This record gives sequence, C-alpha cells and structure tokens, in this order.
Amino acid sequence: MKPQLQHLASPPLLSQPAPADLPDARHPASPARRGVPAWISVGLVEDSDQRLLDLRNGLLQRPAHISPKFFYDAQGCALYSAICELAEYYPTRTEAAIFERHRDAIARRLPRGVQWVDLGCGDGAKSWPWLKPVEARRWVGVDISPEWLSMSLQAGGQQFVEVEFVGVATDFTRPLQLHHVLGQRPHWPRVFFYPGSSIGNFPPEQALALLGSVREHLGPEGRLLIGIDGVKDKAVLEAAYDDALGVTAAFNRNVLRVVNRELDADFDARRFAHRAVFNSRDSRIEMHLVAQGVQQVHLGTDQRVFDDGEAIVTEYSYKYTPESFAALLREAGFGSSWHWSDERGWFHVFVAGA
Ligand code: AVJ
Repeated sequence: MKPQLQHLASPPLLSQPAPADLPDARHPASPARRGVPAWISVGLVEDSDQRLLDLRNGLLQRPAHISPKFFYDAQGCALYSAICELAEYYPTRTEAAIFERHRDAIARRLPRGVQWVDLGCGDGAKSWPWLKPVEARRWVGVDISPEWLSMSLQAGGQQFVEVEFVGVATDFTRPLQLHHVLGQRPHWPRVFFYPGSSIGNFPPEQALALLGSVREHLGPEGRLLIGIDGVKDKAVLEAAYDDALGVTAAFNRNVLRVVNRELDADFDARRFAHRAVFNSRDSRIEMHLVAQGVQQVHLGTDQRVFDDGEAIVTEYSYKYTPESFAALLREAGFGSSWHWSDERGWFHVFVAGA
C-alpha cells in the first residue's frame, strides 16, 4: 500500500496548538509568520500492517533477520545515545570533529537561504550548527519516530525563531516522497543532510536507490551533505560494535523486547548472545543475536525454533573507502563531489551535487 499524506496525531511529548490552528502542509499558501515558528506536521506513515508482516516474515526466514529500524524504541534510542559516548564508538565523535574543523569549507560548497532537510533527524542537534552558515529559511526533519520529530521541532523552533519548521514522519527504507513538501517553497534551494553514516545500514543496491531518490529531489543548486564510516582495521571496527561495557550488546538484545511487544512474541533476551564481526569481503559489520541453546519462540500464532548457535541478523553497517563512496555517488547520478576526512582517515564527509 502507498504511504499516505496525513496529519499526525498529536505527538505525546508536548502540548501543541489544536490541529485546526496548524498551517496545513497540503496547502502551499500557508503563510509562515516571521518570528513565529511554523508548526507543520506531515505524516507519511507507512502501512503498519505491512511493517509487522515484514518483521514476522524476516524471523521465519533462514537465516532469520530483523530490520535495524526496530532498534529505536525509547529504550533503544537511549542506548544508542549511550553508544555514541563510548570510547570504542568513534564515528559520531569523529564526524563531529570533521564538521567543527571544516564547517566553513564545507558550507562554501552549499547554497544559501536553504531548506535544510535532515534525514533521520533524531533530536535535531546535528543540524543546528549548520543553520546559520547556510542562512537556512526552513528546516525539514524526516524521521521514523514522531516522538523525536516533536522534540526536534520544539527545540529548533525555540532556538531559530525566523526559520520554518516542518516534520515528516516516514520510513525512508522506501523512496523519498518529499516533492510536495519541498515544493511549497519552490525557490529555496535544498540541502539534504544525512550524517552519522546511517546510509551504512543499507546494502549497496538500496543505498544507491536512496541516493538516486535524494538526487531526484535536489532541484537547482541542491546539495547532499553526508557522513560515511570508512573501512579500517578489523579490530577497531569490531571493538566499536562490541564494547567492553556491553552497551552495544544491550542495544542489540533490546530489539527482542521490541519484537515481543510488536508481534506478541516471547523471546527470552537473556538467552541470545551479542556478536559483531567485520565481513571484509562485503565490507560490512554484521551484528547477530546468537541463540544460546535450542529455543522455541512464539510469534503471535506462529512458532519458530532456533537451533543452538543459530544467529538472527539484526544489522549490517557497510563501510566505504572515499573512492568506493565517490563511485557510488557517481553511479547515483551525482556529477560533482567533495570530501573531508579526519587525520586517521576513519570517517569521511561528502558534499555532492547534480
Ligand atoms: C546508526 C546505523 C550509524 O551502524 O554504526 C551503532 C548504529 N549499531 N552501534 C552504526 C549502531 C551499533 C549505527 N548507525
């Protein structure tokens, strides 16, 4: 079923004006009053039945797999925030250092007066330092979680009173459908911001499709600003995904609690071990949950028996060299790109244009 354009139910985390007071995102004429954050919530909500069918089918397959999008319930988000503070988990910190150090040079490759589109915005914090340098006129947060959207709209709206704030709740494992929202401001150039190496969750063909979809949304002068985790020493990579404190293990196992809730299942999270290995042939970290002993699990009305040692794939995180990622950008139709890296060459930030 096609995702539908509809207003979100009131996000739970803050009080908002009644829906009747909101500018209607479906009507491009809605005025944004200067000095007042324009609160527009647009939901491109995927079919929730399909989402659960996919989850169930993935668990019945061999090997079993769970999409990493199920990691991020409230507890999963908290654990992911903790991961970003870990000594072993370098990507977030390394990317932040590249942004800090090269902000001006990067901003010189971006247009001005932009609509800043934050893909997977979370709390929005990574966007805020860019809004002044690019003289942003509009911030469009895209995230799977309405709770995150509501928080980031609130935080940004308070800090940048002259900027329009728009939230789009969607799952961008499917093609982006932002033409309508972005078309509301036809003359404001677009910057797509996709930090954190999140694109690493997609296998190359899907990453290519997503990049192609971004490119179709660029319009004149549009640019993509994206963070990419680099190929590096196997031990460094594996430690980043299997830390000494076991935070990543908890993050991985937490997905079973999400599955229990979503599918009315009865996984015993204590009987699955966390495993993270770098598969150098496919250039990806693989996270698994490995059954400790034979286990019979109910998935609603279905059943699935896991053998002792059988693994559920929970996440792939693909790593690129600057060359391999530049090639992917070209393949997706981007005609120009620039990149910046840290001294160790562990992480890469790209700007790409049509
Ligand atoms: C959010 C996809 C960028 O792949 O590094 C961190 C998620 N998983 N530790 C990553 C993650 C385990 C993360 N991304």
